[in-house]
Amino acid sequence: MSRPHVLLTRRWPLAVETYLADRYALTINSDDRPMDEAALIEAMRTHDAICPTVSDTVGAAVIEAAGARARIIGNYGVGYNHVDVAACERAGIALTNTPDVLTDATADLALTLILMVARRAGEGERMVRAGAWPGWAPTQMIGSELKGKTLGLIGFGRIAQATAARAHHGFGMRIVYSAPRRQPAEIEAAVSATHEPSVEALLAQADFVSLHCPGGAATHHLIDAARLAIMKPSAILINTARGTVVDEAALAAALAAGTIAGAGLDVYEAEPQVNAALLRLENVVLLPHLGSATTETRIAMGMRVAANLEAFFAGTAPPDRVA
Ligand code: DGY
Repeated sequence: MSRPHVLLTRRWPLAVETYLADRYALTINSDDRPMDEAALIEAMRTHDAICPTVSDTVGAAVIEAAGARARIIGNYGVGYNHVDVAACERAGIALTNTPDVLTDATADLALTLILMVARRAGEGERMVRAGAWPGWAPTQMIGSELKGKTLGLIGFGRIAQATAARAHHGFGMRIVYSAPRRQPAEIEAAVSATHEPSVEALLAQADFVSLHCPGGAATHHLIDAARLAIMKPSAILINTARGTVVDEAALAAALAAGTIAGAGLDVYEAEPQVNAALLRLENVVLLPHLGSATTETRIAMGMRVAANLEAFFAGTAPPDRVA
């Protein structure tokens, strides 16, 4: 039997590309730029599997393309709001993701942002690089400590729990979370977390708010001007989830007005574009969607896609099927 044809829409870690090339007729989009709709439709017609990333938009026109041959979309990433799930279900195309393997890397990055904003690390680095540091002074660039502060988590899945563990056990923070489903007592007990059913009540008490909910219509602009106004003037907002969860224009206005003290963002509403007003502000740290960007994690993500493809082409259930 001929080997299934598999497309990677971007370059992946070499170890994973090599692993896949040994098993499949592999096409790699070697210019490593996001593929447009026409190219993705063509790929659906010429491959048995396509493997997109968060940088691709895989909408209904791609998934339901006439003459599509692909029967599985093996997404390289845990979030899959860039893929039209309903269209996959209509077309009977399997969709898989890569949970678990990026939990620690993303939680590490949430803590990176918490610390960078709390200790004004972005501002400080810009000052040093600009040659504008006048030397140590008792009142210079004063930040805030984490110990004893309240971390409010919106969403309480794997990444939020790993963030909570670092914040609670490593930095002595108090953990509050809001999520549609309350977690079992043992999960809450592991980080002494309190469940707060109301997002508003969580926002009103948190010193740091970290977002860990999925993207998509249900969470679009969950953090808007009205909810930013509920937060403490000293509060810091962290987003390592999806850019669309935050109304960026409202956030920029709140940061400029001092409605909240700071923000740390790894994701944006229209990546790779970043709201121009945010770029002008000192009290926001802006990272280029680095949550899963470690050697270990990016290889593990690729191997997770490989495991899903292997199961699918062997006629068994892919372990991470989400549609
Ligand atoms: C994901 O996996 O959803 C990240 O955003 C990209 O790694």
